[in-house]
Amino acid sequence: MADVGDLVARDRRVVWHPYASVSGSTPLFPVASAAGTRLTLTDGRELIDGMSSWWAAIHGYRHPVLDEAVRGQLETMSHVMFGGLTHEPAVALAETLVAITPDPLRRVFPCDSGSVAVEVAIKMALQYWTGRGRPGRTRLLTIRRGYHGDTSGAMAVCDPDAGMHHLFSHLLPRHLFASAPACAFDEPCEDAHVAEIEGLLAGHADEIAAVICEPVVQGTGAMRWYAPGWLARLRELCDHYGVLLIADEIAVGFGRSGELFGCDHAGISPDIMCVGKAMTGGYLSMAATLCTDEVAAGVCDSPAGVFMHGPTFMGNPLASAVANASIDLLLSSPWQARVREISAGLAAGLAPAADLPGVADVRVLGAIGVIETREPVDMTVIQPLLVDLGVWVRPFGRLVYTMPPFIISPADVATLAAAMVEAVARTI
Ligand SMILES: Cc1ncc(COP(=O)(O)O)c(C=O)c1O
Repeated sequence: MADVGDLVARDRRVVWHPYASVSGSTPLFPVASAAGTRLTLTDGRELIDGMSSWWAAIHGYRHPVLDEAVRGQLETMSHVMFGGLTHEPAVALAETLVAITPDPLRRVFPCDSGSVAVEVAIKMALQYWTGRGRPGRTRLLTIRRGYHGDTSGAMAVCDPDAGMHHLFSHLLPRHLFASAPACAFDEPCEDAHVAEIEGLLAGHADEIAAVICEPVVQGTGAMRWYAPGWLARLRELCDHYGVLLIADEIAVGFGRSGELFGCDHAGISPDIMCVGKAMTGGYLSMAATLCTDEVAAGVCDSPAGVFMHGPTFMGNPLASAVANASIDLLLSSPWQARVREISAGLAAGLAPAADLPGVADVRVLGAIGVIETREPVDMTVIQPLLVDLGVWVRPFGRLVYTMPPFIISPADVATLAAAMVEAVARTI
């Protein structure tokens, strides 16, 4: 095996990392292995995982049940194309997704990543309106501070200022944006809170295909949460103005916020729902877009007669098998109690950060904990410090945040939170 010592140097020569320059100015840490809640670096240091590999590895790494699911599936088939063929793992996964998501969602389109699931959702909405004889409904309405992925359709509905709009605005379709909901998670939703989005719906109903939003938890774009009552009002408004509602559950789905799905906080059902990330327990890239029978019928009534999308790795058997195992594992575990325990641990552990002068806010919902700083953090300083403190937390802008695997122990939650507070105290 090649000497791991020069892994970073080799990486610097040929690899491009997410949201990174090739100048090699940001720190990079070589990982030798990952098991349970620990990442082991090639220099032997063990880090407590505070990121679940971006919301995905909810059961931790190398979980024996998930390892076995992949191994078992390898014995049968690793992949076959999904056009004209089907197989047990994909059908079982679709059945499970239909069973656990809000009732009217009955049709599942498997796809390869969260961004693609959002593209698929948008295309479904547009084709639906073509099928219903309203091809002029081509715009989307969304809320600021949102994040829906990095492909062009998804980028166009990310926050227009903090997202990538300004870089690609000449290429992206112009959609409609309302302010992010102003009512906090535990506040009631008043008429004033929905006035702006209602105004946009009323003024543009004939051209809007769908409203898309992250239900209750705005993840990567903001790490903030809003009142479930706001989402319930949005559902009513979409019905009133005859507009579809797309719920992007890719980050928050599968228990992260304390409910299985963000929509469950509000007791609503969207017309189209995207899931991904934790669906495979972080083992393989897979996502899915679900829709109602009505949306599916509209799409198939469009002149094309079929839904015009079909990724090469759609329904991949390995990913489907591990997704089935991951969902079973989640549902057969005391996940709600675990998330509550993580929540309490994060709330207690992060609380001291609220007294730091450079901190604007500290907040916790479910298994998500956030320290929001007043100024952006310096990644070249805070990232190595967090590693020195024994945790893997990857801050972003003014957000030092964690969403650990659900299997994390209370002691590790305390260590994680203390390291975050200390890193902020020493660098901000
Ligand atoms: C809410 C939401 N939607 C979509 C995506 C895109 O998912 P992926 O990175 O798998 O393309 C993300 C990723 O962070 C997300 O948080």
